Amino acid sequence: MKILVIGSGGREHAICWALQRTSSERSQLFCAPGNAGIAQIAECVPINVNDGPALASFAEASKIDLTMVGPEAPLAAGLVDTFEGRGLKVVGPRSEAARLESSKAFAKDFMARHSIPTARYRVATSVDEAAAILNSGEFGDQNSSVVIKADGLAAGKGVFIPSDRVEAFAALEELRSGVVGVEAARKILIEERLTGPEVSVLLFSDGKDHRLMPAARDHKRIGENDTGPNTGGMGSITDAGIIDSATLGQVASHIVEPTLQGCRDEGFPFRGILFIGLMLTPDGPRVLEYNVRFGDPETQAILVRLKTDLGTIFEAISEGKLGQLSIEWSPDSSACVVLAARGYPAKAETGATIHGLEGLEHRQDVHVFHAATSRANGEWLTAGGRVLGVTATGEDLEVALSRCYGAVAEIQWDGMQYRRDIGRG
Ligand code: AMP
Ligand code: GLY
Repeated sequence: MKILVIGSGGREHAICWALQRTSSERSQLFCAPGNAGIAQIAECVPINVNDGPALASFAEASKIDLTMVGPEAPLAAGLVDTFEGRGLKVVGPRSEAARLESSKAFAKDFMARHSIPTARYRVATSVDEAAAILNSGEFGDQNSSVVIKADGLAAGKGVFIPSDRVEAFAALEELRSGVVGVEAARKILIEERLTGPEVSVLLFSDGKDHRLMPAARDHKRIGENDTGPNTGGMGSITDAGIIDSATLGQVASHIVEPTLQGCRDEGFPFRGILFIGLMLTPDGPRVLEYNVRFGDPETQAILVRLKTDLGTIFEAISEGKLGQLSIEWSPDSSACVVLAARGYPAKAETGATIHGLEGLEHRQDVHVFHAATSRANGEWLTAGGRVLGVTATGEDLEVALSRCYGAVAEIQWDGMQYRRDIGRG
């Protein structure tokens, strides 16, 4: 079977690694555009993730049996619609279903229509209207009780959590000045601010049936103790302690089922990977956001526990046969520590020589997924903000973390930064 994975980050390296590990005898892997780490296990094809027609033509010409889409932008832009329109098998939601991620206002209105628990919200169609909502006192007088979000895709930069009124209005001015682009900020959401631990529940869905993955937690801020600016994610864990079975049961019946049923009822059955970002509030679990794809770096920590053939899961999703498949996971815990370049997340330095990777290559208990590296003269170089995701399993979280950090200590480059508190907060 020939499989094409679309994307170029640590998430796609982990997907390729899992495909190759669980189905190596029968699969040949391609990745567009991939990265230098992915090139070790898949044939990288230099086509941009947003060039749908070129990707579909490549899939036709190379007789690709199945394509898996990693990132959100091509899903929102209709890559799956293009592939399906040309009779190509593909794993991922069509653009209609991808609106659950590409428009936060759509997602909130969807949740309201289906009584899915989430933070109270208002949608404004201009900065001035958003300011009027803040001034109305509807979300509290001090405005430290609100979250402000741009509607559209903003690569993690569209969410503001102001600690006072001044910061709240400064956030609106940032949106007015176009930090996230005009299109993404056409609508602005004002939300009630919730509190509690966060957990991510991801699932496979074929439109009829679904299967949950182990719950994960990521660490979004650059600095230890959750300080500093937001990033794409500086680390992630999976562990039974993240969510107890009673709460998971509530998530399944009050959130997962009504979400998937809502998609069916509204005429866009969800096929692909759904990622539900939750906050476990004192009043029960609440949805913060939907993503219509695997998370990065949640995927790295999740897939190292997968025992079932990932290619078989993808085939079952694309053929509507997930109901016949039981998916097995190792009972371990897992962790992924992201190593980033100096300057990330603002402006990352690139081109530094990475030392210590060779010594980790043959380790069975640690997997180093590449997010942004390049190769020159036999050396590994940094090529972006998030560079590597050092990932390990263990019989409990402590063991998984100590394996990760033991391996991290062997890697080094000028300007390497990482959080030492992954899994601890
Ligand atoms: P989102 O991209 O919508 O998940 O928001 C990014 C992060 O902002 C989340 O992971 C939360 O930490 C935080 N956040 C979003 N919405 C809320 C909310 N209503 N209350 C508190 N924190 C939130
Ligand atoms: N780690 C969060 C995301 O992939 O959106």
